Amino acid sequence: MKDIKARILTLRSLIEKHNHAYYVLDNPSISDAEYDALMVELIGLEKEHPALIDPLSPTQRVNGKALEAFGKITHQRMMLSLANAFNEDDLIAFDQRIKNGLKTQDPIEYMCEMKIDGLAISIEYQQGRFRYAATRGDGSVGEDVSQNVLTIPSIPSVVNELRTFEIRGEVFMAKETLVDINQKRLENNEPLLANTRNAAAGSLRQLDPMITAKRKLDGYFYYWVNSHDFQFNYHDQALKRLDDLGFKTNHERKVVHGIEEVIAYVKQYQTLRKSLPYDTDGVVIKVNDLTLHETLGYTSKTPRWAIAFKFPPDLVETVLEEVVFTVGRTGKITPNAVLKPVRVSGSLISRATLHNEDFILSKDLHIGDYVDIRKAGEVIPEVVSVHGSKRMPNAKKVTMITHCPECKSVLVKIDAIHYCVSETCPTKQEEKLIHFVSKDAMDIQGLGESNIRLFFQHQLITKPSDLYTLKDKKEMLDSLEGFAEKSIVQMLTAIERSKTQSLERLLFGLGIKEIGEKTAKTLAKKFLNLQALMQASEEDLLSIPEIGPVAAAALIHYFSQPSSQRLILALQAHGLNTIYTGKVSGDSDSFFSFKKVVITGSFEAFDRDQLTHLLEEKGAKVSSSVSSATSYVLYGTDAGSKLTKAQQLGISTLNETQLLEILDKEKV
Ligand code: IVH
Repeated sequence: MKDIKARILTLRSLIEKHNHAYYVLDNPSISDAEYDALMVELIGLEKEHPALIDPLSPTQRVNGKALEAFGKITHQRMMLSLANAFNEDDLIAFDQRIKNGLKTQDPIEYMCEMKIDGLAISIEYQQGRFRYAATRGDGSVGEDVSQNVLTIPSIPSVVNELRTFEIRGEVFMAKETLVDINQKRLENNEPLLANTRNAAAGSLRQLDPMITAKRKLDGYFYYWVNSHDFQFNYHDQALKRLDDLGFKTNHERKVVHGIEEVIAYVKQYQTLRKSLPYDTDGVVIKVNDLTLHETLGYTSKTPRWAIAFKFPPDLVETVLEEVVFTVGRTGKITPNAVLKPVRVSGSLISRATLHNEDFILSKDLHIGDYVDIRKAGEVIPEVVSVHGSKRMPNAKKVTMITHCPECKSVLVKIDAIHYCVSETCPTKQEEKLIHFVSKDAMDIQGLGESNIRLFFQHQLITKPSDLYTLKDKKEMLDSLEGFAEKSIVQMLTAIERSKTQSLERLLFGLGIKEIGEKTAKTLAKKFLNLQALMQASEEDLLSIPEIGPVAAAALIHYFSQPSSQRLILALQAHGLNTIYTGKVSGDSDSFFSFKKVVITGSFEAFDRDQLTHLLEEKGAKVSSSVSSATSYVLYGTDAGSKLTKAQQLGISTLNETQLLEILDKEKV
């Protein structure tokens, strides 16, 4: 038995070593046949001796069962994002801020790294073993994607470091992988994945790890969270240590001196990046000396010691083939350019927004025009300019429509926007339904956009309250093509479950003009139930700081409409919850929720008890001593040893101004 155990351990470490050579170093150390032989032997031995199976064994990495939902993981240290720089001036200003912060005019040593276009993850290892991997989420609470991360072969599951450590990096999909996957999807008539970033995010967020495994994801690591515990003095030392432990780090990085060298690096990679095998959207610049990170500190969202330079979006020329007008849920008409498909910043683009009539007129658009389009980050592609000189002599000018393309009613122009104001416009109704079930509204899973369109087409549903009658129309659902019994049951369960959603989701889902997610939440928290909100006067509404005259008027108008009143009555009759059930205190959206906070020194705006109470209301745990588990130390004047200790431990600190800034943003 002892020999078998030893052989199993040897096989595992041999396989890990060959994985590292193949997936991290891109330099295979044995043939596929030899590798397979090791795997077969290990699988055989583990099968004969199930007691010796280890969930982190190479045989088990693609083995997890599909989950119902992801668990939540509270980050011990906030996963921050980075401030952006868009040009040289922004970089020079960043450098100046650093110099001011450090009270020096000497050139700063920076690390320049590629900004990998994927999604951030944080992984913790304990006793040399992978413990968990989490997505960023809202920065303080992410999703537990451990099972999926373990399917990524370049990420080691066991490492030669026994101390606990947490590292962060980017999971991404190589450009070539996306092409291969899309090729197969095209053959199978499946929708294509838009770009490598969405593909990586979508693949990592699959509940079934088998799917993730097939997507051939990869990961680069770029940040060592508890670097202090390891006595690294410089960021590049931490990266080197990651390399040595078998993690993949990006070797396009460079330590440079002074901002001029940063600018040179950025310029060099503006073109070079196109030839890299993965997508990048910029360069991340970090102060290399880790002790200076503590001096420079953090704003509420970003570290002051780093910045992301964003590459300017690519402009690509194509042809405007047609303009189509779409109707949104509020009746807003949007003109869209139908373009000859082109690849822009890694995505295949065939449509771009033309915003409104004024935009079309200002560009003097004609059908068949050569246009430059761009896509920057998440932004919807847009037409930037038109090459008037290349226009055909008899080209047809693009004009705004006068009637709704769907229901043919006359459009009404309010400010620069055309609206279809018909209550019975089918497209508006359909879009409203899609909005009602969407993730940020009633979040009815298993009832996606295509289902809504299908049900709408068959007139099974025309308004939100009809969703709750679907359970009585099972026979009709059964007869619809492509619907399995199981998925119908799941969908109906999800619909039933949505009845208990808290008021703010219902309010947002109703799709009242001007009432976005945030305003819906504010209203729900203030009025606590729908009845009270419906009875509110304009004055009542205007007394809420976040509600302006436009939103107040929109609410009064909405609730005065008989059709709205009928809808709300119908929803109530189906048993929908209309009260605010979210937490009034312990606000999970707060910067401070789940944070361990220590207060030291005295403050201008609060006494200590007040501040403690306020933070606790926001979900923080206020404690009196600083430890490595502390998330933030809030310091006022005459702060003493607690602040020093925080700085020694590398714990984030906030002064009163920063604290007030955060609280100000959260004021409800
Ligand atoms: S450092 C506290 N380095 O960009 C520092 N981020 O806009 C954490 N990213 O959330 C970030 N490549 O997802 C860093 N070399 C790199 C990066 C990188 C991509 C992503 C990361 C982060 C976002 C910030």
